Amino acid sequence: MEGLDNVAKSFGYEWKAHHRGVLEDETLFGRTLAEDWEYFLTATGQRDPALRDAVVLDAGCGSGRLTRQIAEHGAGAVVGVDVNEAVDEAYAATRDLPNVYIVQGNIFALPLQERAFDLVWSNGVIHHTPDAARAHAALSQMVQPGGTLYVWVYPRRFNPFRFVKDIFNATRLSRLPEPALFNIAKALAYPSAGLLWLYRSVRRIPGLRPRTAWGERTVRERNLQEIELTWFDALSPEYDSRHSEEEVIGWFKSQGFTGIGALEEPKVGVRGTAPGKQFQAAVGAATEARDSSAARSAPA
Ligand SMILES: C[S@@+](CC[C@H](N)C(=O)[O-])C[C@H]1O[C@@H](n2cnc3c(N)ncnc32)[C@H](O)[C@@H]1O
Repeated sequence: MEGLDNVAKSFGYEWKAHHRGVLEDETLFGRTLAEDWEYFLTATGQRDPALRDAVVLDAGCGSGRLTRQIAEHGAGAVVGVDVNEAVDEAYAATRDLPNVYIVQGNIFALPLQERAFDLVWSNGVIHHTPDAARAHAALSQMVQPGGTLYVWVYPRRFNPFRFVKDIFNATRLSRLPEPALFNIAKALAYPSAGLLWLYRSVRRIPGLRPRTAWGERTVRERNLQEIELTWFDALSPEYDSRHSEEEVIGWFKSQGFTGIGALEEPKVGVRGTAPGKQFQAAVGAATEARDSSAARSAPA
């Protein structure tokens, strides 16, 4: 499928480097294992006991780090799916756990039984596909009636990393091979660390202190490795669409989800409860009909 080559290569490079300990090691995007887990529980509205025996899909599992945690906390089975070339590393990182299955696959054509999952988790993934709404629809079909789907996407708001990415796109610099982008990410990390230090100092001045959870996140300490990973993650993927809270909630509504809730600022982490089988079948058929008519009317 169009766009998959770049995704498979760029994220393959990123996760292989991460597994070698080059792009962060103990933490991932600055989060510790405990913080990752707290985020997972808050975002999905689960508590550990409710997770016990659940069948979970980690769609776009990346490093496999969270896949591992979900399994360790007692899930019945966790399937981690990713299209990139580093799934072998995710497999190696989880192979000692009997309840983990790592599969190389594409969200748009998952080699898995539909409506088989109690919980589908997809964090930071679908905006890296050519069509995030369609990726959301594909994931919706994997959740069993009454099950939960959670997605987090890039928010539509200013972000310095993605601002630079837009310049790279405009000048075609983002087409550079991964090792070159990796070196650029490393070079950008030094001045960025200085600027972030300056920004943090200014935001400590009374009256300028952050007032929201999002503001707090922008002033947290970041080490050089996290900044390097953030730069590489921002610069290398071909697709990185940005979305509003209303848009993401709209995706859930159009798939018949109920109990839709957006997380605290920025509210682009959204979860919902999947509708019954009949509704899902009807939406699945309508989505298929729409996609095939779009394919027929597309210029050859
Ligand atoms: C930013 S990473 C997020 C990884 C992980 N969910 C996390 O939170 O750390 C995005 C991941 O989505 C995967 N991905 C992107 N498009 C995909 C697709 N069409 N099918 C499966 N995985 C995909 C990439 O390979 C990459 O590992």
